[in-house]
Amino acid sequence: ADLYCVFGNPIHHSKSPVIHAMFAKQTGQAMDYQTNLAPLDGFAASVQQFIEIGGKGANVTVPFKLEAFALAQKLSARAAMAGAVNTLIFSAGEIIGDNTDGIGLVRDITHNASKPIHGRRVLLLGAGGAARGALLPLLEERPASLTIANRTLSKAVELVEMAKKSAMRSDCEIEAKTWEQLDGSFDLIVNATSASLQSEVPPIPSSIFSASSLAYDMMYADTQTRFNLYAQQCGAQTRDGLGMLIEQAAEAFFIWRGVRPETAPIFAHFRPVEG
Ligand code: ATR
Repeated sequence: ADLYCVFGNPIHHSKSPVIHAMFAKQTGQAMDYQTNLAPLDGFAASVQQFIEIGGKGANVTVPFKLEAFALAQKLSARAAMAGAVNTLIFSAGEIIGDNTDGIGLVRDITHNASKPIHGRRVLLLGAGGAARGALLPLLEERPASLTIANRTLSKAVELVEMAKKSAMRSDCEIEAKTWEQLDGSFDLIVNATSASLQSEVPPIPSSIFSASSLAYDMMYADTQTRFNLYAQQCGAQTRDGLGMLIEQAAEAFFIWRGVRPETAPIFAHFRPVEG
């Protein structure tokens, strides 16, 4: 079987081995996918060791996505735009870096939640790594507008500048705002802040949500996230990042194996009631 792994620290809670084992079984691919706990100061050495024992590819999670970006000798356009790498391909002595997080988010919204992004008003909350990774894939859907709001406005402005330089902007209106400057409702609100980790919700006005809005928290948990609870109270539909996790894995699997796995059975495995 071909060898793959996910690098992270900590890594024991990772769902990736289960997801990829299910993909491999479903598609009949001979793959062995393990967790790989890299020391905080030893990511590059861990990757090198993994290549030496015959590793064909790897996923990268917290806190190594920036180091993986630096380590890669070649980058996909979306990884270059994201400034981070979550998928590595080891091929012909070369380390190639890609980023499937943003496309995973977009596919979960458009395919699984059946919510088009094309022509819609999109609000991205946050301007850190997670938001940056979502930028190009969101723009590729050609929304009517993209608003980036962040606690630190200057970081939102930087992302807006980056978005405006991309070839994807077409006639999409792109702007940066503070929480206080937000007004009017949005069709899609993506929470890419790490506020949920501290059980906090950014101070966003309830008026950004309507009954037809989809609030999407990139985080996921066994219970509704704080952000999604708030969005639900404001009347919006909600979805969390489990689907994004599964879809980013499916895209990585496709890159490595050339076969696109079905993601619905994996979703049903983790969320048997909701499907
Ligand atoms: P990640 O890789 O998860 O995106 P990051 O790059 O550190 O992590 O970015 C964290 C994002 O969450 C930033 O947009 C941050 O806002 P600032 O740019 O102002 O720091 C945002 N964030 C973190 N904690 C927050 C909180 N309690 N309330 C609102 N925004 C928060």
